[in-house]
Amino acid sequence: MNIIHIQELDFEYIASIMNKACEFKNNSTKKQPYNIANGYTLANVFFEPSTRTSLSFEVAMKNLGGHVITFHNDASSTKKGESILDTLKTISVYSDIIVLRHHDCDLIDQIPDIINKPIINAGNGSSEHPTQALLDLFTISQHIDIYSMRQLSILFVGDIKHSRTIHSLVYLLNSFFNSDIQYYCYPFCCDDNLMNNNNTVSSFDNIHNFDVVYSTRLQNERFDNLSHDIKTQSNLLINQSVVDKMKPGSILMHPLPRNHEIDPEVDNDPKCVYFSQIENGIYVRMAIIHSMIEQCSAKCPF
Ligand code: CP
Repeated sequence: MNIIHIQELDFEYIASIMNKACEFKNNSTKKQPYNIANGYTLANVFFEPSTRTSLSFEVAMKNLGGHVITFHNDASSTKKGESILDTLKTISVYSDIIVLRHHDCDLIDQIPDIINKPIINAGNGSSEHPTQALLDLFTISQHIDIYSMRQLSILFVGDIKHSRTIHSLVYLLNSFFNSDIQYYCYPFCCDDNLMNNNNTVSSFDNIHNFDVVYSTRLQNERFDNLSHDIKTQSNLLINQSVVDKMKPGSILMHPLPRNHEIDPEVDNDPKCVYFSQIENGIYVRMAIIHSMIEQCSAKCPF
């Protein structure tokens, strides 16, 4: 099984990942090694920068008793003109699971035809980031009873157009939960596929209505020319006075990295859960790797 598009995951699979991640989280203090991935190798293949996704996949695989190899594009034979597809075919010989991040939105769809190994989309340009959506959903469920609440209200803030984490999470929330989703974005960062006059706000005036506020940075790398007007937008800055207006029990999320959109002065506020998202990424990715290895073992029992 691959994890390429969030749309390909059904509720049964998502629920199984949530439950398994919870089990891994509950057992994390015991520091007992698992041998679930013993003998398996995960390849981290990142053509775009990453701190959390690459390191958490590495930690997750090692926690399960597996090996990790890391592809370094700048020191690879792509610099001698080798194609990306040949590079990935080569990596697949050395590994059992490939985690791929690439700026090309469409490349990931070509991989299953040329590689007979599970592949995980760790971000395809500005399009999708499905494992981030799963860890975000897990984080929400750790704080809010989304399975029994009548409606989850969530405000996405920042660069809606280029944020792959928002695109994947919105799909999950719209598909499997009764969600009221609203957007507050930078100029030139509207996503016409998601936004309309009825779900777009232009201030934090009603921030007290939301169960979840999800902030994102301006994705500078997706613009050819970044206008001064966008760079200096400060009305989307979340500081203590904004957090204080959020309703009791609500949470402030961010996939990170952040630039200036959340003032570090609020980091210790109990509503701010972005550092919990980082930790939860380990358990959710352990659950994903576990499910892939279970399927591999079921296919080839000897
Ligand atoms: N959230 C996220 O994808 O972070 P990295 O870019 O550091 O992997």
